[in-house]
Amino acid sequence: MTTGQVPAGSTTQALEVVNLRDGHGLPLVLLHAFPLDHRMWASAVDAMPGDFTVLAPDLHGMGRAPDGPRTPGLEASADAVVSAVRAAGYDRAVVAGLSMGGYVAMAIAERHPGFVAGLGLLDTKSTADAPEARLNRLRVAHQVEAERDTTAVLGMVATLVGDTTRAEQPRIVPLVESWIRAQRADGVAWSQRAMAARPDRTHVIHDVAGPVLVLVGDEDVMSPVSAAEHMVVARRDAELVIVPGAGHLSAVERPAQVAEALADLVARASAH
Ligand code: MLT
Repeated sequence: MTTGQVPAGSTTQALEVVNLRDGHGLPLVLLHAFPLDHRMWASAVDAMPGDFTVLAPDLHGMGRAPDGPRTPGLEASADAVVSAVRAAGYDRAVVAGLSMGGYVAMAIAERHPGFVAGLGLLDTKSTADAPEARLNRLRVAHQVEAERDTTAVLGMVATLVGDTTRAEQPRIVPLVESWIRAQRADGVAWSQRAMAARPDRTHVIHDVAGPVLVLVGDEDVMSPVSAAEHMVVARRDAELVIVPGAGHLSAVERPAQVAEALADLVARASAH
């Protein structure tokens, strides 16, 4: 595993791009969920067919990434991901994100359309938060800051991991809990505020120049199958993959199926 870093620009904080696999051709950039970091992709990358490079930054506030700018916004994360991947030597990439990573992927597609050779939207949604969900994020942000730890978001594990995974792969729950415990309270607060501020980006999916993959676990209760279908309506030629026996963290719960779908997306983008 190697890493590359780009200095902070005037509007973005530097992000580190972790190189999860060296390879050839168009790289795949994987953007993680909240409140996790790039480590959530390890088993999917282990199972990944093909020989393309796989890059996975930690997004602002999470993992080893610095805090984002003073005003939280996923646009800053989007710009910083593109800067960091460009600094690693790639002008274009297939960009795939799971949940919060998907929100950032859509912001990249909107702000840097020429960068996106293909788009993967995993267990995510293109709509903005409803008012009560937004208020809840702001309440959680305030709470983790006041308590100076991430206990307030630990309970999310109950909705992140699907019922089948809990029954058949019991090691996954403590693994995800350990990733959440490792996050910083101020980073969790920044991310919640950034997600609360995101707009509806359904229109972006329609305009992506390359292929689009929409993938969802059939037991995902956070970004359910109906949210995936809403995105496919925006882009009729998108490939819809529904992963049986997976909850919200499909890439952690069913890594082989997710890896296969992502490798297929890279192959289609490379041939486009
Ligand atoms: C995630 O998995 O990234 C979060 O569930 C996203 C969200 O809170 O909307």
